[in-house]
Amino acid sequence: MAQKIQAIRGMHDILPERSPLWQHLEDRAREVLEGYGYREIRTPLVEVTELFKRSIGEVTDIVEKEMYSFEDRGGETLALRPEGTASCVRAAIEHGLLDQPQRLWYRGPMFRRERPQRGRYRQFHQIGVEVFGLDGPDIDLEVILLTRRLWQVLGIGNLRLELNSLGDGDERGRYRDALVAYLEAQRDRLDADSEKRLLTNPLRVLDSKNPEMQPIIDGAPSLTDYLSDATRSHFERLCADLEAAGVDYWINPRLVRGLDYYNRTVFEWITDQLGAQGTVCAGGRYDGLVTQLGGRPTSAIGFALGIERLIELIDAGAVESGPDAYLVAVGERAQREALLLAEQLRDRLPALRLLCHCGGGSFKSQFKKADRSGARLALVLGDDELVQGRVGIKPLRMDGEQQHVAIDALPQTLAQYVRSADPDINR
Ligand code: HAM
Repeated sequence: MAQKIQAIRGMHDILPERSPLWQHLEDRAREVLEGYGYREIRTPLVEVTELFKRSIGEVTDIVEKEMYSFEDRGGETLALRPEGTASCVRAAIEHGLLDQPQRLWYRGPMFRRERPQRGRYRQFHQIGVEVFGLDGPDIDLEVILLTRRLWQVLGIGNLRLELNSLGDGDERGRYRDALVAYLEAQRDRLDADSEKRLLTNPLRVLDSKNPEMQPIIDGAPSLTDYLSDATRSHFERLCADLEAAGVDYWINPRLVRGLDYYNRTVFEWITDQLGAQGTVCAGGRYDGLVTQLGGRPTSAIGFALGIERLIELIDAGAVESGPDAYLVAVGERAQREALLLAEQLRDRLPALRLLCHCGGGSFKSQFKKADRSGARLALVLGDDELVQGRVGIKPLRMDGEQQHVAIDALPQTLAQYVRSADPDINR
């Protein structure tokens, strides 16, 4: 036998058993986003590497260590996108979308060559939002309220909202000087990574996961002390508005984020149910990025959620899958008629999910397959039923005897079982 080929480490197939969960999350997210007036944008999976270097930052883990960057056959240096913000900004500038405020959203795979573990993959999927042309803090509140509504709709509880303000460029500049002075004074206690970051990107030292670095990080000056009055009042207004909206939050002065483009408000939604990879959604303002990528000054805020991580928090049992009905047909004529009957039913009930048995077999074996398909109902067509002009209906997921319904009345009877027509069933 030829040698089998396997998927790349950290990149996963989503099998049919799991896809109803993905569809559930994606459909609910789209409904919520559209409910807030956000419009979908789709950008390529591959961009010039320079785009990510200039936006995420040259001295970040993503760009330095994790990007799938390669030279294509024409000699251009391209990368699989590690995130969606840079592409959205590039597209918004390129297509002149920034003359007016924009509320955009996107979804799809992102690629980072991280060390795979639970909740951390090399191909993972995000749903993200980017808003352009609005200063906040009202829009900051809106995007947080939107995420809160999404958790409600998905039935996900116990997420903790952490917030921080990173200040604007010159505030961070002054803070950076103070932090560098502090870290330099204890250079011999820094690990190799932090020593390197001290020279290149000192704020990222605060992001170190090394426990030995924690006492040093705990003693570091706080960015909060370097914020201007304008930044401070932006943040205070947001906090007051969150309180008024009944959103619990924790201010985490050490929340710095791993991408360089942020300023002012940053936030993360965190669960303690997923071990080390507990951040399910993260984002913030990035008012300087549009100019950094060649556009006119435009304020911006956004976030992205990790679909794989959120899916682990959804109660899979609450998401129904499987067809509405499975059509069992036994007997030569019935087998021939079954597919035609199925077509008529689909004409009358376009939302009906009907699996039509193919391949023959006894009643017993067909019922077994009907049961395994997860269908709620079996429709039974035998030669007798055809003569009588009726179809048997048997519930498969609850007790109940088989009943007979006239073929003409079947669409009406089935209508009540069409799951996708019942808006409450999957919520
Ligand atoms: P990020 O924090 O890099 O931000 O990623 C956002 C979310 O994507 C994370 O909180 C996590 O749920 C998920 N995620 C990230 N890396 C992985 C991975 N290797 N495996 C599984 N899930 C992962 C951004 O990407 C920003 N573009 C967010 C943003 C949008 N900021 C403003 N606008």
